[in-house]
Amino acid sequence: MQEDSLAKLAAEVLVCTKCPLHRSRSRAVPGEGPEGARIMFIGEAPGREEDQQGRPFVGRAGQLLTEALEEAGLGRSEVFITNVVKCRPPGNREPTEEEIAACRPYLRRQMALLKPQVICLLGSVAVRAVLGEGSVSGLRGRFLERAGQRYYVTLHPAAAIYNPNLRAPFKGDIRRLADEVMGRRARAASRLEEFFG
Ligand code: URA
Repeated sequence: MQEDSLAKLAAEVLVCTKCPLHRSRSRAVPGEGPEGARIMFIGEAPGREEDQQGRPFVGRAGQLLTEALEEAGLGRSEVFITNVVKCRPPGNREPTEEEIAACRPYLRRQMALLKPQVICLLGSVAVRAVLGEGSVSGLRGRFLERAGQRYYVTLHPAAAIYNPNLRAPFKGDIRRLADEVMGRRARAASRLEEFFG
């Protein structure tokens, strides 16, 4: 039997018909990032841009996430980025419980294949779908452990697009995550950037 891999999983997602979202999607969005990623980000669902390009977090919320990562000394290509559901819900509505349940096996497989040091849950849909309990406001900015896996919860970057007052707190959360996981390397890189501008 062929061994499971992120590439095999992505190929399955691209032709998935397990829930009604496949009818309205342009492209499924399995997620992207290297096998050895130490941090895995889980958002809610692809939006319009992501549905067009087949890549996660490439719209406005994605630009803010990318900016926050870079300011924290992390490249997008170093982390794995995916969503709770892999196809865009029409009109960007929240995914239903049925859609989340249909897509959960893909997410679980990605988590098992990557075994990241930390899984960062972006927003309330990811918190509910993965942890099954708790709220962003109650869990934000803290490292948690569940069944041997470390998690970190922060805002969905779209919340910080709608409310600019949340941008600094969001970026602060991502910096703390990077510092904790990447340790000295991230701190040294950001010090160099501060020095040389
Ligand atoms: N919002 C998400 O939750 N995921 C994306 O990929 C883009 C926007």
